[in-house]
Amino acid sequence: MENFFICGGNKLSGELDISTSKNAVLPILAGCILCEKQIIIHKFPKYADTKSMLDILESLGAKWYFQDESVVIDGENISKSEIPVELASKIRSSIFSLGSILSRFKKAKVSYPGGCAIGARPIDLHLKGLKSLGVKITERHGYIYCDGSNMKSGTVNLDFPSVGATENIILASVYLKGKTRIVNCAKEPEIVDLSNFLNSIGAKITGQGTSIIEIEGVQKVDGGEYTPIADRIITGTYIIATAMCGGNVQLNNVNIENVSALVSKLKNNCCKITYKGDKLILVADKKPKSIAKVETMPFPGFPTDLQPQITSMLSISKGTSVVVENMFESRFKYISELKKMGADIIVNDKTAIIKGVPQLYGATVMSNDLRGGAALVLAGLVANGYTTVCDVKHIDRGYYKMEEDLQKLGANIERIITKA
Ligand code: EPZ
Repeated sequence: MENFFICGGNKLSGELDISTSKNAVLPILAGCILCEKQIIIHKFPKYADTKSMLDILESLGAKWYFQDESVVIDGENISKSEIPVELASKIRSSIFSLGSILSRFKKAKVSYPGGCAIGARPIDLHLKGLKSLGVKITERHGYIYCDGSNMKSGTVNLDFPSVGATENIILASVYLKGKTRIVNCAKEPEIVDLSNFLNSIGAKITGQGTSIIEIEGVQKVDGGEYTPIADRIITGTYIIATAMCGGNVQLNNVNIENVSALVSKLKNNCCKITYKGDKLILVADKKPKSIAKVETMPFPGFPTDLQPQITSMLSISKGTSVVVENMFESRFKYISELKKMGADIIVNDKTAIIKGVPQLYGATVMSNDLRGGAALVLAGLVANGYTTVCDVKHIDRGYYKMEEDLQKLGANIERIITKA
């Protein structure tokens, strides 16, 4: 098992380049299934999840290889329309491939996706949307069989602005003759990036970033190359880490619009945040203060993927704060671990009431999911004494060598590999 061993108390200082967005690259990789030509994705982030997605493309027949900081993908020989269950069950984004496989082959066989254990993670909105486009779907023995022989463009009304369902339906519509409209779609920056990528290789998508997206079907997309956006959740994680530890940090490759919900929550709190171009500068010289209420919402609201991290910060903030998790029904699991470090938090359904304590203390804690694990690392950075965050493979899904990033900023953290 791989763990992080942290000695708390260091301030953070220095400069860090933010890597490319996991949640932009995953649907873009699914989009490569549509293409029979070569695609190069620059600044490719080697998170565990993006590598799992490359495995899925390879299982369908694609060839790929790393070239410096890029990955070169050749989809010419993609011939399979079925994703092996052992690959599909590893990551949530396997389900996005369904739309692309249907576009290319008009049929697909997939099993239920994996992903962080933060809720039931249903896919009813994905399937309902595909059915609106004429896909016949049967679910049997743990598999989802899709017959897209009568697929046609149309209007899909999403009951909820689901990120994945929006991406899946976009990918399923690229080759549908005529115009497909997705109403009440997600507006996340990653949806915009997927649409911009697809347009860069010949698709015709408009409205990305609003609640209505339209896709004009095309015959075929072309090859090309693309540089996806920076990871706004990694950006937010390190903003919060600096606010907690104190210090002076510059983050490069930042799109301030994509972290505005967090930045506005931290205004007049404990750090001075300025930005110029894609550089964000943080000066944190005061103890964090409580925040009356943080509610997670679809973009541009406060992102659910930063909920655990801000809760870590609030656990050492002066005063009482309230965090409401509206997006996932079990995204507070990390709190039981945080309480082992001395946090004073009461959870009731989707609300956490956090009473700030003067100091957390080191402990051995388990990371159960990606962002909950990141929150425990942040707590370890400020705790008094030593913290071991166990099973960091969850964190590796969405942060590439997080310990090295934090070491660059002066944190006392190392990765320990144990036999257990
Ligand atoms: C994407 O997950 C992200 N993952 C998640 O990031 C992120 O938390 C989430 O969007 C919300 O922003 C990737 O992009 C790979 P949703 P997704 O569909 O698409 C319900 C991380 O830490 N729902 O917008 O699965 C669902 O249960 C991960 O990087 C249905 O009910 O999120 C949830 O309550 C974690 N039926 C809500 O919608 C469906 O068919 C939002 O889910 C689909 C979703």
